[in-house]
Amino acid sequence: MARQVCYNFNVEDLENKKYFPNGFVWGSATASYQVEGGIENNDWAQAARDGRVPAAGRACDHYIRYEEDFDIAKSLSQNAHRFSIEWARVEPEEGKFDEVAIEHYRKVLQALRDRGLEPFVTLYHWTLPLWFVKKGSWLARDSHEIFGRYCGHVVEGLGDSAKFWITINEPLVFSSHGYLKGNWPPFKKNLISWLRVVSKLIMSHNVAYKKIKAVNPNLNIGVAKHNINFESNKNPLNWLLSRFMIWFWNHHFLKSIKQDFIGLNYYFHRKFGDKEKYEKNDMGWDIYPKGIYNVLIELKKYSKPIYITENGLADAVDTKRAKFIKEHLQWVLRAIHPVRSLAHASGVSPKDLGEATSNGVNDGVDVRGYFYWSLLDNFEWAHGFDPRFGLVEMNYDTLERKIRPSAYEYKKICESNSI
Ligand code: BGC
Repeated sequence: MARQVCYNFNVEDLENKKYFPNGFVWGSATASYQVEGGIENNDWAQAARDGRVPAAGRACDHYIRYEEDFDIAKSLSQNAHRFSIEWARVEPEEGKFDEVAIEHYRKVLQALRDRGLEPFVTLYHWTLPLWFVKKGSWLARDSHEIFGRYCGHVVEGLGDSAKFWITINEPLVFSSHGYLKGNWPPFKKNLISWLRVVSKLIMSHNVAYKKIKAVNPNLNIGVAKHNINFESNKNPLNWLLSRFMIWFWNHHFLKSIKQDFIGLNYYFHRKFGDKEKYEKNDMGWDIYPKGIYNVLIELKKYSKPIYITENGLADAVDTKRAKFIKEHLQWVLRAIHPVRSLAHASGVSPKDLGEATSNGVNDGVDVRGYFYWSLLDNFEWAHGFDPRFGLVEMNYDTLERKIRPSAYEYKKICESNSI
């Protein structure tokens, strides 16, 4: 994909507006098990029956109400939407594909297209069919072939309806919870198994990449990678630790796979040896907008288009969300624009924007889109339904959807393509 950055604004607007490149993708994201409801044949549903994690039950009933939800996304001036396909619905038994489920997702894709929302489709967002788990899950000898077959089948059925495909969501996050910390299915605590799973996930992505390209070489394929802004104080050991984590957590996977774009999920920063206190969201996670700039700069060397496939916070009372989005996007914009044009557009002298050149970086990062996590409040994994990430508030008793004030602030950004 050739890099094309062009701007469409009047000279008089340059003084006080900051623009994103033309064609910038603005959306929000969800994932099947977190919103659809009615899924009983995957590992999380089984873990809920075993009493180890909360049950998702009917969740947001999005499997039925997706049109209503996409109407909301459209009314909020979004032009894209990221969602995931539930593997256990599409392949309920090994090698037997349910064409009714495929047909459902075809309707979902059509509903997005009808509303002018560009689909970004995730093939695996952390939930696995029970038959796959019985075979040994990712540690099964042929797990990569099985995953590749599933991805190929879905794309054969739906590849003409979506240009952007994400094979795996945050491979390191779910594998470390599932195989190292032991608090998510399959509840294992074993460093060696974890490392083996990571390498199987790399293989699985690469097989899927090949299978998808064989169906349609024009599709854009990537992963949604959770990268953390690792930093340290001046202590050399902390510095070494941060360099190791940058290599292992942020780059090892990305360097080992074939990809047409990078999907970045940004939530966390970690400064080793740092005692500073930061503002927190409802989950107790620090709010650190500048970190998104730092991780974007780190990704520049891949020379691939970047889509921010997730960024968001839990904020039930909605007092922090609008500011959170705006501040993260200010840093995204700073990463996109070459210093000179940003200085020009914002009326600030290039010297005051010196930070942007501190790494010798004086050219922009090719960021092409942003998806807020999430469109709706939803099932937040081991935390159940308490954390509220949505632009839209869910009443889980009545299933009534209520747009939060911050969603309208985000709408202004999407509409004007600027902050
Ligand atoms: C995951 C989502 C999750 C969100 C908030 C991301 O890491 O992809 O599924 O809900 O973080 O925790």
